[in-house]
Amino acid sequence: MTRKTKPKPVSDYFVHTSVLLAEAIEYLNIRPGLTYVDLTCGLGGHLKAIENKLKEQNGLNASNLIAIDQDSEAISFARSQVSDLVRFRQANFADLTDVLEELQVPCVDGGILVDLGVSSYQLAKPERGFSFDNNGPLDMRMNLDNILTASDVVNNYNEIDLANLIYEYSDEVLSRQIAYQIVNNRPINTTSELAQIVRNCYAKKYGHGFKPKINPATKTFQAIRIEVNAELRNINKMLTQAQAVLTKNARLVVISFHGLEDRLVKDFFRQTKIHRNKYPSGQDKASIDEPLWLSLTKKPVIPQKKEILANIRARSAKLRAGEKLV
Ligand SMILES: C[S@@+](CC[C@H](N)C(=O)[O-])C[C@H]1O[C@@H](n2cnc3c(N)ncnc32)[C@H](O)[C@@H]1O
Repeated sequence: MTRKTKPKPVSDYFVHTSVLLAEAIEYLNIRPGLTYVDLTCGLGGHLKAIENKLKEQNGLNASNLIAIDQDSEAISFARSQVSDLVRFRQANFADLTDVLEELQVPCVDGGILVDLGVSSYQLAKPERGFSFDNNGPLDMRMNLDNILTASDVVNNYNEIDLANLIYEYSDEVLSRQIAYQIVNNRPINTTSELAQIVRNCYAKKYGHGFKPKINPATKTFQAIRIEVNAELRNINKMLTQAQAVLTKNARLVVISFHGLEDRLVKDFFRQTKIHRNKYPSGQDKASIDEPLWLSLTKKPVIPQKKEILANIRARSAKLRAGEKLV
């Protein structure tokens, strides 16, 4: 008789530490009774801290804390970390308005937190195929119901499209060489095979003694992950919807992990709206460029050295926060 092995619980894969935790909570400016949404609850680290802050103020009720993630495994774990009052939805944050409509939440008057990228759990679990350190299938889907996988991108995209996406989504200077080698080594089945192809390109270009500061596969993996999960398109959609649902004085806090994400957030907070003053006759008097957001972080907040020493994943994190003005 074969004995079924039980799947390992999420917590067996790694120790999870939320990035810029105290800073995120401070910028959310949590006030009792207002509604808060964690759009990327992951393993519930930030979510738990928001819940605690609301509880401290006797401000948690059955409808004012909402947690979203597109990863069903993350949702199950986060659910076990907080009280039953927190409402969970497995969804893409690009569908924020639909989720809120379904939950009958007309607007968000407290704040929204977004902690972008992959979770340490997704990276640590080899079967999810995100990591060049843990060999696994080429998957990289944050939502396991999605159709496109890293294997489809690596094995089916043409060489030019591959080179372009690797360059655009990661600034990889060897994008063309890497795309050429990927196409000529197909089929590629595992994360280790892909990482080796990238390493070979670096060795060919810079010599075998070359010691890069970070694993040469980092950028290529990032680019393929962004493509698989349509990350930049979803961030843009989410920001537009966050703007629509947040009320005046509500806050938006976003933690990003690479320049492309941070640029979208920075530009978002700089948006203005042309306000036309009119004469009673209806003629234009003057046009004023009105800011839509009060940026609370003129420069992005970055982790202190001691946080980076304790959690290397924090090294590229940047937090930006804004308060809605209109
Ligand atoms: C860095 S982790 C969040 C960690 C979390 N803040 C914590 O303290 O445990 C990022 C999470 O965002 C989720 N995510 C990324 N893009 C998403 C999207 N478009 N919609 C919903 N969730 C997304 C990932 O599945 C992952 O669980």
